[in-house]
Amino acid sequence: MTAVQVVAVEKRFGGVAALDGVDIDFTPGINGLLGPNGAGKTTLLRIVATVMAPDRGRVEAFGADISTAQGRLTTRRNLGYLPQEPGFHRHFSAFDFVDYVAILKEWGDRKARHDEVRRVLSSVGLEAEMHKRISQLSGGMRRRVAIAQALIGSPKLLILDEPTAGLDPEQRLRFRELLGTAAAGSTVLLSTHQTDDVAALCQRVVVLLEGRVAFSGTPGELAALAGGRVWTATTRDPRADLAWVTSEGMVRQIGSPPAGSTLVDPTVEDGYLLLAGNPADRTADVTP
Ligand SMILES: Nc1ncnc2c1ncn2[C@@H]1O[C@H](COP(=O)(O)OP(=O)(O)OP(=O)(O)O)[C@@H](O)[C@H]1O
Ligand SMILES: [Mg+2]
Repeated sequence: MTAVQVVAVEKRFGGVAALDGVDIDFTPGINGLLGPNGAGKTTLLRIVATVMAPDRGRVEAFGADISTAQGRLTTRRNLGYLPQEPGFHRHFSAFDFVDYVAILKEWGDRKARHDEVRRVLSSVGLEAEMHKRISQLSGGMRRRVAIAQALIGSPKLLILDEPTAGLDPEQRLRFRELLGTAAAGSTVLLSTHQTDDVAALCQRVVVLLEGRVAFSGTPGELAALAGGRVWTATTRDPRADLAWVTSEGMVRQIGSPPAGSTLVDPTVEDGYLLLAGNPADRTADVTP
């Protein structure tokens, strides 16, 4: 079942094609978006979140065409959105800020609204800090306030632009657990630079490169792209497209392994690096 359908979407900024003919069917569950800086992830998420209109193409969310006013209204009522760089009223407390967002989301009943605000702030571990001013919170805590406002009302469509950026390891784990629960019955679109978040969280992953879909499939299928192409050795081999020294002091390499190499099981990161790190391969259509 398709929840959000993106068809032939294009968006240019001056001479730059931020999105250059993007087709994706997002299904219920957690969908990850990977891609290097400038690949078009934020542009795509902003378009689906109805913040910005595409130049060409169309987006349907749960059957509603978001190019129409009615479609945008329906979508916004179903939506929780974490922008990459949210603006805060820094003199607000975390509670007042999330409460303010809840008011904008038409939560009229004060008691029910305050219960919901406390619920979402507790779910991101801010029970103790919720009455502090946002200006006094750490960067990671502010990120969690921003995540909390996106969770108000358990939205059917949850769009999170780099939710784990700046979170400490414990909070990243907590976020994974939280999202596992929040995603039940809803559709989550999240962008990240953390391939281990994708492996741990996402049912599906889309890789964007230079405004185009370079891959769409499961994390396992992305990892499998690097099958038979990842090996370790004590020194760097000239046949490696990419190589780096691991914490064990071995050189992990991706490319064409020489005969007799020690092949290792590829990870999501290996598959992603193989796609993103090798411009010559970008024309290959690897979408299953
Ligand atoms: N408002 C804007 N005005 C001009 N150019 C823009 C604007 N927004 C995005 N771009 C350009 O569009 C391209 C895609 O940007 P986008 O922010 O979507 O990338 P991204 O994949 O989210 O990158 P990052 O990983 O750094 O967040 C970039 O070349 C960027 O410079
Ligand atoms: Mg971005």
